[in-house]
Amino acid sequence: MDTRCTAKRLDASEQALLNGGLKGNPLETTEAWVLKEGPKTRSTNPDIGLSCGKFVIPPLDDDEALLEPLFGAWEGNYGHALDRSPIDICVARGEPAVVLGNCGVVRVLRPPKAPGELKPGDICIQTGNAVADRFGYMVKAHAYDARNTMGVLAKRTKARARQLIRLGPDHQVASLPQWAAFSLRYVTAWANWRVAHGSFRLQLPVETFPEAFPVWAWGGGVAYAELQLAAHFGARCTLISSKASRLAEAEAAGFAAVDRRSFSDLDYDPKAYKMSDGYRERYRAAERAFLEVVAQGTGGEGASIFIDNIGGPVFRASLKALAREGVLTTAGWKCGMNVSYMRAMQCIARQTFVHTHYASFEEGRQAVRYAVEHEWLPPSSALSKTYAWHDIGQLSLDFNADRVDSYFPIFAINPL
Ligand SMILES: NC(=O)c1ccc[n+]([C@@H]2O[C@H](COP(=O)([O-])OP(=O)(O)OC[C@H]3O[C@@H](n4cnc5c(N)ncnc54)[C@H](OP(=O)(O)O)[C@@H]3O)[C@@H](O)[C@H]2O)c1
Repeated sequence: MDTRCTAKRLDASEQALLNGGLKGNPLETTEAWVLKEGPKTRSTNPDIGLSCGKFVIPPLDDDEALLEPLFGAWEGNYGHALDRSPIDICVARGEPAVVLGNCGVVRVLRPPKAPGELKPGDICIQTGNAVADRFGYMVKAHAYDARNTMGVLAKRTKARARQLIRLGPDHQVASLPQWAAFSLRYVTAWANWRVAHGSFRLQLPVETFPEAFPVWAWGGGVAYAELQLAAHFGARCTLISSKASRLAEAEAAGFAAVDRRSFSDLDYDPKAYKMSDGYRERYRAAERAFLEVVAQGTGGEGASIFIDNIGGPVFRASLKALAREGVLTTAGWKCGMNVSYMRAMQCIARQTFVHTHYASFEEGRQAVRYAVEHEWLPPSSALSKTYAWHDIGQLSLDFNADRVDSYFPIFAINPL
């Protein structure tokens, strides 16, 4: 299968017309990896789901800059978009073609018409909050469910000034690929940790619980970033992973590492649990084994904070692994968004659930400031090799098949 960026061209004028017309502006086109409207085939057809070709940049609003993306980090939303699940974003946006890529590192080509500080040549972190509520918290994600937004999988793209955090001399503590890895997962982790840790400390202030508190997490780039942050706040961190390389990376970061392959039947399916005795027995044995590991790692008390961005198959076990007054915190639903629990149990145990979605603009800025001041960064050793522009199709396949060892799969778009 040819996964390289080849001459399979979209018809630009057709795409522009389909995407809502040109509104009198001259055509500005770019080369892009494009998700086109279509059937939900990726799970049955091992196709990359993207085509590389010409794309018409939608007309820029006065507060939007024309940008040249430099680096991006592949992540869950690309997969969710390609799987057209939980939503088909072409259908949700009413657009026949979408350029993915919520976040990354970009260079300003043309600053917004509206007055501001951005100049041509500025290098910025592009954050992913496209549509916010009146408090600044994200409602819709850039290059995902927000209409008329365009991501970093293009040689040229656009974003609003408020989404851009200019990188200056202070930011040289990290390379541009590290900031690309930071732009989505670390910002999400910051916003989630702020609420999770705040909730935990509201019930158990330092005077009540002065010792290091256990924070556990299922693997993932957001969870890795959040554990690093938790350690800064006095937590004893444990990452649960299924890959030797990620377990080694966790240990290098100072976390305890738990290999989830030793309880691989921990895959809760409520229907099978009800219907099949064999399934129920296997599941229960795996859950017991998991809870025994948590008990050993937490002095029998359970986790003070459990980061579960996985959902469905592990939610029940995550909840059982939680200490009294514990916080179960999430920003994701990688393997299932429907969960159920018995409210009385959680009330009696005074447990708190935290749900966040990326970050407010201010939280994005806070995260970057904290990162610079406290060296809270993705280690360069934890980044993948950098995939070249024409190999992005291959990256899509590798990520989907879980062949990328790193939690931070980096790709380059334009030369520096
Ligand atoms: N709401 C938001 O704003 C927001 C922001 C960022 C991410 N998210 C979402 O949050 C989720 C996690 O994101 P991420 O970037 O951290 O993920 P990621 O880096 O892509 O990693 C996902 C990891 O989940 C683990 N995993 C997969 N299936 C599992 C299972 N059945 N049981 C236990 N662990 C399992 C695997 O870890 P191991 O290989 O180590 O076992 C896998 O590498 C995704 O769905 C993403 O879309 C939401």
